[in-house]
Amino acid sequence: MAKETVIVFDFGSQYAHLIARRIRELKVYSEIVPFDVSLERVKSLKPVGVVFSGGPDSVYVANAPIPRKEVVDWILGENIPTLGICYGHQLLALILGGRVKRGVKGEYGYTVLEVLRSNELFQKTPKRQVVWMSHRDAVVEPPPASIVLAKTANTPVAAFKLREKPIYCVQFHPEVRHTEYGLKILENFLYSVCKCKGLWSLTNIAQEIVKDLRRTVKDGNVLIAVSGGIDSTTTACLMKEAIGPERVHLVVIDTGLLREGEAEKARELYEKLGFKYVHLVDARKTFLERLKGVTDPEEKRRIISEKYFWVLDEKARELSMKYGPFKYMAQGTIYPDRVESGATGRSTAKIKSHHNVVLAHLSSLKKVEPLKDLYKDEVRRLASSIGIPREVVVKHPFPGPGLAIRVIGEVTEEKLRILRKVDEIVKEEFKKAGLYEQVWQAFPVLLPFKTVGVMGDERTYRYAIAIRVVVSEDAMTAEFAKLPWSLLERISTRIVNEVEEVNRVLYDITNKPPATIEFE
Ligand code: XMP
Repeated sequence: MAKETVIVFDFGSQYAHLIARRIRELKVYSEIVPFDVSLERVKSLKPVGVVFSGGPDSVYVANAPIPRKEVVDWILGENIPTLGICYGHQLLALILGGRVKRGVKGEYGYTVLEVLRSNELFQKTPKRQVVWMSHRDAVVEPPPASIVLAKTANTPVAAFKLREKPIYCVQFHPEVRHTEYGLKILENFLYSVCKCKGLWSLTNIAQEIVKDLRRTVKDGNVLIAVSGGIDSTTTACLMKEAIGPERVHLVVIDTGLLREGEAEKARELYEKLGFKYVHLVDARKTFLERLKGVTDPEEKRRIISEKYFWVLDEKARELSMKYGPFKYMAQGTIYPDRVESGATGRSTAKIKSHHNVVLAHLSSLKKVEPLKDLYKDEVRRLASSIGIPREVVVKHPFPGPGLAIRVIGEVTEEKLRILRKVDEIVKEEFKKAGLYEQVWQAFPVLLPFKTVGVMGDERTYRYAIAIRVVVSEDAMTAEFAKLPWSLLERISTRIVNEVEEVNRVLYDITNKPPATIEFE
């Protein structure tokens, strides 16, 4: 898409995402590649810069991730500017002939860095600055033909550069906000070392996506499954912009796993947005029947995906009788969906099967994914810039398998009905408190057990609900929201008063990691 790409090697830490996001914030396109990426792939990305990110504790652990030799040789041979960070710093030091010592005096948290000589990486930053460290091993001898750029009290080689090549390494994490001049250091790397021009802007992206879609979808109709959520809505609007409304058919599938009134609301939205063909498919019965007796979350995901693509294919067949052949299916897959489904690399493990990624091949239609390289906040900004209504832009993400993964254990119609009522209460209270847009997601989960309570003078034996509220930048990591007690109390009181089948409300206080955001 954009001409200027910086690739970030993923050595198995979520920091890789933070680095990629910061680089994009600085207007340079960045893509994460698995640590053992092939030379062919690296060459095809035409990187103007490379980042070796953080990773496991030590370059000495068994199976420590190490890039292929031919890839490193190519990067060095071509003089591609490279920044090593933390594990990447130690790895490059070792590869280039320096010495790394295990378990020396590590440093965790805020540390004062002393810049020893002026250089491009630290330009326009002070001689002494606060950085964020997290390491046990350390570079004790820099590689030959390098110069040490900075030190801390415990780390004599906190940053170095090769004399003759644009290779810079830092022990600290410039990508975290705790590093005072972190963003400036990354900016220096991009603009002074890599000589980037800053071509990545969302206005360009919208235009490029539209151009791309026009080139790809030359003839035939396009099917887009839409939910009223931001990813599918943005995909649909870009497609309409690219090829006009005549060939774009939107399908809203009511799986029975949606929230209150959602399918109907979605239909109204798309009609308002000027789509000519919006088809509502009522598939509630088939989904619920297939889910009968199923308790395992991955099994639920698999069944729902299969059914989903089956319903879509059926619909395409039916519509093609009236409107001519369907060739393409556009999807709102975004970058983290691919990452979490294990589609981008080996080091970031597959966490769960996001259905649009893992099973889309079940459809006979050709897949088009215009948002596949974007993070959620980028999609939000892009959506705003092309005039998608604010209520869609700020809407919390909702997973493809819907409420099926928020009903723990077997999914039944009764449980879905209960959860829908609770979900409305949670949403209303967040909106009333003015906190809806401050959190990434806020939703209830129906737990698979009943407990004893007392209401009036009566013993009750009813369901328990867990409330999950997280704040996050991109859903790759998340913290549980530290909500005011009064809001939690209002939510819990309303739930037990208004939803007869529930007598207990719990609040989930786990971060991601170790928990995921969805509570399946
Ligand atoms: P987890 O639970 O993996 O969720 O921490 C990360 C983000 O992804 C959403 N999510 C999904 N989105 N299809 C989607 O489109 C899915 O199958 C899916 N599963 C989880 C989740 O709501 C959160 O925002």
